[in-house]
Amino acid sequence: MAEIVLSGVSRSFWNPGKEIAAVRNLNLRIPSGGFIGIIGKSGCGKTTLLKLLAGLEQPDAGTIQCTGAAPRFSLMFQDPRLLPWLTVEQNVRLAFPAKGRFQKDLDAMLDLVGLGDWKGLFPRKLSGGMAQRVALARALCRKPQILLLDEPFGALDAFTRKQLREELSEIWKTLAMTVILVTHDIEEAVYLSDEVIQMKNGTIDAAIKVELSRPRDCRSPEFQRICRNIEDTLFG
Ligand SMILES: Nc1ncnc2c1ncn2[C@@H]1O[C@H](COP(=O)(O)OP(=O)(O)OP(=O)(O)O)[C@@H](O)[C@H]1O
Ligand SMILES: [Mg+2]
Repeated sequence: MAEIVLSGVSRSFWNPGKEIAAVRNLNLRIPSGGFIGIIGKSGCGKTTLLKLLAGLEQPDAGTIQCTGAAPRFSLMFQDPRLLPWLTVEQNVRLAFPAKGRFQKDLDAMLDLVGLGDWKGLFPRKLSGGMAQRVALARALCRKPQILLLDEPFGALDAFTRKQLREELSEIWKTLAMTVILVTHDIEEAVYLSDEVIQMKNGTIDAAIKVELSRPRDCRSPEFQRICRNIEDTLFG
């Protein structure tokens, strides 16, 4: 698997009348197989950072290096972006890189994300949580070594979010990949991550290691202390 090292990465955009430094002089090491949470105010550069990692944006300065052979990335967004005229199974099938005899893999993937019983449904019949499961299955089809998630559960109710974060944690363990999760939910970040990166004005403001054993107890004093610590840095 691949370790990713970002050194002095910057990316600016020209918006009417002024230059916006979306990411500036950012240094970060993402260990192979780790779970990294990224948190920060709206506009601080989180999505731009994910796009840089996925190769959808190129840095103006600095380097992004991966050890080993070029790793496969998958990026999942806040909205599921499903094709409405295809069923759950057909939406996921589209993302499978292999041609031919992969029905077994497809079925296993649908089961992994809890969609085994729903594969014949069209997107308009899905709940928000189910639609995000389809998007997750689609992102996992390429067998990514690095999974990039941009507020994947942001539009869901608190109950569904908790259920999906539990499932994501299991899937991360099962598939042994690196996950980089952008979220606005501090508890979600602390529950899932080995390290929570706080971004501010396009760069890293703080990095907090979460050394609690899994599964984590959100009510434990230590968990609560880490959440408060992050909250204080974000809003302080
Ligand atoms: N393609 C683009 N063209 C022009 N400006 C852009 C582009 N992409 C991002 N920006 C600007 O870069 C800054 C960072 O945007 P980015 O989407 O990375 O923020 P974010 O942290 O993901 O915010 P949010 O939490 O609201 O999703 C913003 O000021 C945004 O307007
Ligand atoms: Mg964003």
